[in-house]
Amino acid sequence: MSKSIEIIQPDDWHVHFREGDMLEMVTNFSSRINKRCVAMPNTEIPITDTNKASSYKELLKKASDNIFEPLIPCYLNENLDLEDFRTGIQNKVFFGSKLYPSNATTNSSHGVSDISKIFKFLEILEAEKSPLLIHGEKVANDIDIFDREKYFIDDELSLIRKKFPFLKITLEHVSTAYGVNYIKENENIVGTITPHHMLLTKKDVFLDDSINPHHFCMPVVKNESDLIELRNAACHNNSKFFLGTDSAPHPIHLKKPDMSSKPGIFSSPCSIELYAEIFDQENAIHNLEIFCSINGAKHYNFPINDRKIKLEKKEWIMSDLSSYKDIQVKNFYANKKINWKVVN
Ligand code: DOR
Ligand code: ZN
Repeated sequence: MSKSIEIIQPDDWHVHFREGDMLEMVTNFSSRINKRCVAMPNTEIPITDTNKASSYKELLKKASDNIFEPLIPCYLNENLDLEDFRTGIQNKVFFGSKLYPSNATTNSSHGVSDISKIFKFLEILEAEKSPLLIHGEKVANDIDIFDREKYFIDDELSLIRKKFPFLKITLEHVSTAYGVNYIKENENIVGTITPHHMLLTKKDVFLDDSINPHHFCMPVVKNESDLIELRNAACHNNSKFFLGTDSAPHPIHLKKPDMSSKPGIFSSPCSIELYAEIFDQENAIHNLEIFCSINGAKHYNFPINDRKIKLEKKEWIMSDLSSYKDIQVKNFYANKKINWKVVN
């Protein structure tokens, strides 16, 4: 008889749904599994005010065949309307706010280039106990792509934490052992961990004279030693770490075998199964539920979900592509064997 487990329904605390046909294609992959999803605001026109957030939320609900709750952070930018921001945070139209350093990743050109210019917004977040979600990478010509997380922590995050010691911070898609340790050692900071940062290392991305664009994401995946620390943080019942897939679809024609490629890995067709696979490999399947369904909800003061989902240990092969109308997206783990499958 095959092995199976039931866990409380998870939440995905970091996922990209995009707009238009892409949104229609990808939403159900997340909403069929998760109760709540933090929908990233780096859409083509970034979500910078309450009107945009409310209509985006409605669009997502309408596109879903399942009942789920999209949570929309406000895209931070120095020119936001302060009163609209305050109202959105106080009335929970926004799920906190997202800091993209400018030009760190997809659609981040409207992001933040001088941290001090957004302090007035951080003050509101701190006062309202509303979370600041951070893409933690410092981008500069003299900073190596593999060191961006460390420089962000040392130069920018430390400054934010010093100025706003009670601000609730989530360092998203932690990608280094340095980041894991920083979270463990400091107060008021937690982290999300993606499946791909626990499955890939830089050798899976950077080839002799090209890159594998389907493994290219921001922050880029790092070394084996980083992967091990990420696995330890996720799998061994540390309440400061929880699920955030960072599933980030791009049409296949924008994935190029060089650094001009769009960064982002589309994992939502199999992310919960990959988390199960990783926890099983680490002999920690008993901790899957805590990471996927409890730590995040507790941290953000949401009730624990009441439904359960069931996973069975049985082999299946992830398909190559997801397609809808004229869009095609490469699936993460395409054509590879996965040992766990959601069965309800
Ligand atoms: O790889 C990434 N892709 N990282 C991000 O932070 C953004 C995302 C996207 O939106 O494509
Ligand atoms: Zn993301």
